[in-house]
Amino acid sequence: MNRTLLIIKPDAVRMGVIGEILAQVEREGFKILDLKMVQLTREQAETFYAEHRNKPFFNELVTFITSGPIVAVLLESAESENGVKKLRMIVGATDPLASPPGTIRRKWGTNITQNAVHASDSPQSAVREIRFFFGDKF
Ligand code: CMP
Repeated sequence: MNRTLLIIKPDAVRMGVIGEILAQVEREGFKILDLKMVQLTREQAETFYAEHRNKPFFNELVTFITSGPIVAVLLESAESENGVKKLRMIVGATDPLASPPGTIRRKWGTNITQNAVHASDSPQSAVREIRFFFGDKF
């Protein structure tokens, strides 16, 4: 599975770093197959993050992700390798402060909620998340 989904979250959109984030993923070996800017409804966000429904941070997560437009980006790793794993290396850890220097979250994340981007965490999630934003087109 060399395809994966990246979401540029509302904090990064507000910061004006869409272009810089896209440039970094392209520079590090990904091709952009499709992308769209959308503002999720609460219901859509709850569906997208359904696996976190019982977590204590769920409400905060949904409120944040619906607080402004996001950019959903369908990526394909240039080489036939594990795109999910590769993107997660570039993105860094959930907590920006625990992310290695040079990762997207270390550069543009603020805290564990406002962490600039989301990346699919497994090939199964990637399939579901790509379908969520781009339907059966891919
Ligand atoms: P993301 O990759 O979008 O997937 C789920 C999100 O939940 C994650 O990024 C974080 O922003 C958020 N999250 C995960 N753990 C916590 C936590 N302990 N407290 C607050 N938010 C969290």
